[in-house]
Amino acid sequence: MHRYAANDPIWRLANNYLQSSTSGRLGKACFQCHAGTAFVSDNTKPTFEFSELPDLVREGVTCDFCHVLRPPFVTTDQHIQYTLSPGKTKYGTLGNPVPAGVHEHGYEASYDRSEVCRQCHDLIMNHVPVEITVTEWQNSPWGAMSVECQKCHMSTYSGTAAAGGPVRENLHRHDFVGADVAMTDFPNKPEQRAAVDSMLKNAVTMTFDAPASAAVNDSLNVAIHVYNDKTGHNVPTSVFFFRQMWIEVTVFNGTDTVYRSGYLDANGDLMDNNSALRKNEDRDLTIFGGTLYKNGEESNVFELDSLVNNSIPPFATRTGNYGFRIPRAGTWSVGVRLLFRPFGPYLFRALGGEEYIAELPIFEMQTAGSVIDVR
Ligand code: HEC
Ligand code: HEC
Ligand code: HEC
Ligand code: HEC
Repeated sequence: MHRYAANDPIWRLANNYLQSSTSGRLGKACFQCHAGTAFVSDNTKPTFEFSELPDLVREGVTCDFCHVLRPPFVTTDQHIQYTLSPGKTKYGTLGNPVPAGVHEHGYEASYDRSEVCRQCHDLIMNHVPVEITVTEWQNSPWGAMSVECQKCHMSTYSGTAAAGGPVRENLHRHDFVGADVAMTDFPNKPEQRAAVDSMLKNAVTMTFDAPASAAVNDSLNVAIHVYNDKTGHNVPTSVFFFRQMWIEVTVFNGTDTVYRSGYLDANGDLMDNNSALRKNEDRDLTIFGGTLYKNGEESNVFELDSLVNNSIPPFATRTGNYGFRIPRAGTWSVGVRLLFRPFGPYLFRALGGEEYIAELPIFEMQTAGSVIDVR
């Protein structure tokens, strides 16, 4: 996804939107991590269409940028402090590199550790920890066990590191699969979606408690537990305030549905505070995202003084509770799904990017079901 960082329409829309809502105070802040080369070489624009950006900028987080990063890697507090050694030498962990005449090789042990990801994946704004994936990881058992980011996001394979080089056993995949998908033309789009789907299916474990039998009109409760047993940081992490991960529950008998939560309104939005049509009508909705605030009002990454984060830390469980009554006897099914999408349609509408809504996928992370025998 690093190549997409400065091709992502939502990044452009958010930059342009914030630039006008802050009367230009945003400066080149959004280029810092999404297009580092542009940032350090002052090749940025306050607001832009992609066609106006040089190719160098649209290459996003490039090979050349990552492979000249040097320590110290410190958490970003609004203004990123890169230590770069631009030039002929590219740094990495490859042992015994073969001289190819294209560039020189420098050994830098941190490339095998989470540290090298920190500057872009750990962001504090106005003293509020906003996108702190590396800190979440560091404070978890994964950090304590030194299961680095690379272990899950750069799986190893054998092959050649460069055309004509020797076969090596310990090369690293560079797709950096996460939770985001390309919304515009991009190489291997179907494969990328399939990889995200598989990542999300292997992120958490869902279990649930429901009664097996009941009397007509009993007050019933279903409790659904989501356990973050496989992800090295919170789920969702980073831009958790945009991500939507939620539980869908349906109690039905054939076509007769007596209860549901986690459904979408006619705009495709969840019926929480962001619904334009049925605001907060889904009272039981469990969504693992969050909200940023400034002076008690909902705000954005650039201007905030507090936040609510409902994501699930590593090895923690969060539970959604659903209360209902079943008014008719019969064998009723309880269907449960844990769903995920990178963004809700409301965000695209707010930023003026309606044309991308149709591209939004919904990933099914987990499913479960049971029956209640009602007499
Ligand atoms: C400290 C580095 C950093 C800065 C500064 C930064 N971002 Fe990001 N941004 C990231 C990272 C890392 C991700 C990927 C996080 C993820 O996928 O969860 C990201 C993801 C995003 C996304 C979601 C794209 C996706 O993955 O689906 C948007 C939108 C976004 N950023 C907008 C902005 C805007 C607007 C600004 C300027 C206010 C900004 N970013 C500044 C690091 C940064
Ligand atoms: C034990 C495996 C594991 C480790 C270690 C790990 N991740 Fe992840 N990561 C995942 C899984 C699974 C997902 C998909 C679930 C999710 O979106 O949170 C993911 C998702 C992400 C995302 C997209 C998240 C989102 O919701 O937008 C980013 C960004 C990310 N990881 C960065 C990192 C960084 C940086 C590190 C090191 C500090 C790291 N990961 C360590 C397994 C891991
Ligand atoms: C987001 C940062 C990042 C970007 C972008 C990136 N790399 Fe890497 N690359 C790494 C890291 C980190 C490692 C080392 C992983 C390890 O040792 O655990 C690595 C390893 C390598 C290696 C050593 C062999 C291997 O697979 O371990 C080569 C060669 C390489 N990268 C080339 C490239 C090229 C070419 C590009 C652009 C197409 C690129 N990298 C883009 C971070 C990056
Ligand atoms: C120079 C800044 C930079 C560095 C260094 C960097 N990243 Fe990223 N990374 C980003 C940005 C920006 C994005 C968001 C791209 C997008 O979706 O628009 C991103 C996206 C990702 C994603 C995909 C997230 C998603 O939701 O799909 C993963 C996974 C990830 N990075 C892991 C890593 C790991 C692991 C490292 C260290 C080896 C690393 N990154 C180093 C800036 C960086």
